[in-house]
Amino acid sequence: MKILLLGKNGQVGWELQRSLAPLGELLALDRRDKGGDISDLLALAQIIRDVRPDVIVNAAAHTAVDKAESEPDLARRLNAEAPALMAEEAQKLGALLVHYSTDYVFDGAGALAHKESDDTGPLSVYGRTKLEGEQRIAQAGCRHLIFRTSWVYAARGGNFAKTMLRLAQEREKLSVIDDQWGAPTGADLIADISAHAIRHVAQHAADQGVYHLVASGETNWHAYASYVIERAKNLRPDLDWKVQEIAAVPTTAFPTPAVRPLNSRLNTYQLQAAMKLNLPDWKCGVDRMLQEIL
Ligand SMILES: NC(=O)c1ccc[n+]([C@@H]2O[C@H](COP(=O)([O-])OP(=O)(O)OC[C@H]3O[C@@H](n4cnc5c(N)ncnc54)[C@H](OP(=O)(O)O)[C@@H]3O)[C@@H](O)[C@H]2O)c1
Repeated sequence: MKILLLGKNGQVGWELQRSLAPLGELLALDRRDKGGDISDLLALAQIIRDVRPDVIVNAAAHTAVDKAESEPDLARRLNAEAPALMAEEAQKLGALLVHYSTDYVFDGAGALAHKESDDTGPLSVYGRTKLEGEQRIAQAGCRHLIFRTSWVYAARGGNFAKTMLRLAQEREKLSVIDDQWGAPTGADLIADISAHAIRHVAQHAADQGVYHLVASGETNWHAYASYVIERAKNLRPDLDWKVQEIAAVPTTAFPTPAVRPLNSRLNTYQLQAAMKLNLPDWKCGVDRMLQEIL
C-alpha cells in the first residue's frame, strides 16, 4: 500500500508518521517539501499524480481559529479547496482519502452529544470552511474517511494543557472558561484509529464516510485545566508551582474573534460499533501526555 501524508509535522501529522509507517510505503510531506504546500493547488495535484498513492491522508489545515476570521480566503483555500482537489485526484486514482474535521461544524446548542447525522451550523470561518471541505469531499465521490475530532493535544506542539502548565508556574490566579464542554483527544489516539480504519475499510468498503472520533467522557476547559495542574503537581512537586486559585468564568469573560460552540460533545457510537473499537476515557491519554512531557 502506498500512502501520501500531508501536514506531517502538525500534532496529528506527527503521530500519523508513526502509526501509518507499518501499513506500507509512506511518503510524508510538510509545506516545505515539493508538493507539500497545500495552498499551491497545482503542485498538490502534480504530486498526487506523480506518487499515485493508494491512500491520501490529509493532516494539514488552517487551524488558527481566531486568525481565520481575518484571513477567510486562506482558510477556505486550505480547509475546503485543497481537500476538494485531493478528493478529485483520489477519485481519478481510485484512492482512499482520509481527512480530519471538527466539532466546530456544529453550533453547539443543547447538551446532548452530536451524532454524525445531526444538522450542522458552524459559527466561525474555521467551522464553515471545514464543513465545506467535508461537503466537497463527499461531492467528489471518492472513497473517504472523515474524522471529526475536538480539543486535540499532543506531547509535541503547543496546546491548551501545555499553556496551563506554563501559566501555573507563572501566576497565582488563573481564570478558565467553564461553560464549553467537550473531550480532550490525543493526536496519538486519532492517528492509531486512523491506521486501524484504513485497514478496516480496505475489507469493508461500505464503512467509509464521516465519523466522530474523540476520547470518551466529557469535561469543560476549567475542569480540564484543574485536572492537568493537579496531576502535574503530583508528578512534579519539585517544580515552582505559583498557582493558588483556578477561577471558573463564562465564555463571555474572554471575547475572541471566532465564536466557539458551547457544546462540543461528539457521539462516537457509530465509529466504535462499525470498527469494533473502544475509545478510552480522555484522562487516560492526558495522564500519558503529562508523564511524557514532565
Ligand atoms: N487542534 C485541534 O484542537 C483540532 C480540533 C478539531 C479538529 N482538528 C482538525 O484536526 C486536523 C489536525 O489538526 P492538528 O491539531 O494536528 O493541527 P496543527 O497541529 O495545527 O497542524 C496543522 C498542520 O497543517 C500545516 N499547514 C498549515 N498550512 C499549510 C500549508 N499551506 N501546506 C501544508 N501544510 C500546512 C501546519 O504546518 P505549519 O506548522 O508549517 O503551519 C501544521 O503542521 C485538522 O484538520 C484540524 O482542523 C483539530
